[in-house]
Amino acid sequence: MTVKNICCIGAGYVGGPTMAVIALKNPTIAVNVVDINPERIAAWQTDELPIYEPGLLDVVKEARGRNLFFSTNIEKGIREADIIFISVNTPTKTYGIGKGRAADLRFVELCARQIAEVSTSNKIVVEKSTLPVRTAQAINTILSETGSGVKFQVLSNPEFLAEGTAIKDLFAPDRVLIGGDQTPEGLEAIEALTSVYASWVPRERIIQTKLWSSELSKLTANAFLAQRISSINSISALCEATGADVDEVAYAIGTDTRIGSKFLKSSVGFGGSCFQKDILNLVYLCEFFGLPEVAAYWQQVIALNDYQKRRFAMNIIQTLFNTVSGKKIAMLGWAFKKDTNDTRESAAIYVSDYLLNDMAKVHVYDPQVPAKAMYADLDCLGTRNPEHNRELLTVVADPYEVCKDAHAITIITEWDEFKTYDWQRIYDNMMKPAFIFDGRNILDHKKLMDIGFKVKAIGKSY
Ligand code: UDX
Ligand code: ADP
Repeated sequence: MTVKNICCIGAGYVGGPTMAVIALKNPTIAVNVVDINPERIAAWQTDELPIYEPGLLDVVKEARGRNLFFSTNIEKGIREADIIFISVNTPTKTYGIGKGRAADLRFVELCARQIAEVSTSNKIVVEKSTLPVRTAQAINTILSETGSGVKFQVLSNPEFLAEGTAIKDLFAPDRVLIGGDQTPEGLEAIEALTSVYASWVPRERIIQTKLWSSELSKLTANAFLAQRISSINSISALCEATGADVDEVAYAIGTDTRIGSKFLKSSVGFGGSCFQKDILNLVYLCEFFGLPEVAAYWQQVIALNDYQKRRFAMNIIQTLFNTVSGKKIAMLGWAFKKDTNDTRESAAIYVSDYLLNDMAKVHVYDPQVPAKAMYADLDCLGTRNPEHNRELLTVVADPYEVCKDAHAITIITEWDEFKTYDWQRIYDNMMKPAFIFDGRNILDHKKLMDIGFKVKAIGKSY
């Protein structure tokens, strides 16, 4: 089968960049990205893209209008497509059975129903959003009940790109994973999708599996990555107590090729839309399938991450003489990692919540995150009413201004620009003693201490 037309439902952090690269690398395939959110679609048509991702604008500019299109006409997109990607959000459920753990699949279900309703020709439907194992079966059931004679093949093609490096990851992926039914029709569909990626990804990097293996691999990959961070973060607490240095420990163990050096950077805690959600999902699945020991094992990765965020905030409060009430605390960074404007599950939200509970005056600067996103994050927690959040948290557009007269500075996101600041100037304008809490270990601590700062850092015992 020759693929001529692709539709992607959902123009977010996953759908947008992935489709931009597919379109760039396959100029003969029309790629239509559709979304229910008209503002998002409008933004994709300008040079002010709705998501910040290095290199993305160049890719979009080259393909947009040629074979990459953004639209709110979902029905038309579906009807014309040979392959439909489902890239809608799958947040953790906030209600009912599985609340706080299971994935909320109502957006996916809506998509499947819409595809079933409007399709007039055979389609390959690809799960791109992270989904619980066996979701494909649910999608299949919805699609097979149309009575229209249209045939659907459901594939799982999980996304492994990381935000901030999405374009790099898409250009040169470690692997592309495609799972499908092992029937002749299923294998044909797998081949069709393989041909799209094979325009730029070497064939040996395209892994073809059974449907369920592909779905479970996505959850497992994220659980393993998150587990490494929780493991090193657990050791960071021990380092602080014993005088060992967590960066030295991470380096020493990471040189063992069996362990490897990646994802061993101790931090204030991992954030992002995937890690916590996927592990909670895995835990829920294990419980559902009667595997409480396995569930408890993975749950601990989340528990440790929560502990790390709490520990960081408590350290600030205790160090500032057991109270931050009325004190100005400067927070550098709100995004969950550098080079993205995404704030989902960012440690900043939880750390600032602890500080605000203790009546601190938190002033934040982030180079990419707008104030309205920060307030929305805090409002979502529901700890205080929105007016109170706006009273206690101030968003500042200038890093030197944010640190002026502060009792302490906290580094939450590892933005490169923080390393280039004039720290002497910042020190001179702060309250004394001037504390700095480096939640990412990105600054030159010795230099800061020489200036006069009192430095506290993850996994260090200065
Ligand atoms: C992750 C997976 O890496 C990606 O494959 C999957 O498709 C989606 O989820 P993402 O959440 O975008 O990607 O970012 P990632 O780089 O994995 O970082 C997640 C969090 O862990 C961030 O808060 C980051 O700062 C933190 N982190 C990462 C650490 O604290 N230490 C590390 O060593 C690495
Ligand atoms: P992700 O990180 O998984 O890409 P995002 O929240 O960034 O998640 O993007 C998901 C997108 O899917 C949003 O832009 C949302 O408007 C869109 N969406 C959700 N449900 C539907 C639907 N039924 N039809 C079309 N678009 C949808």
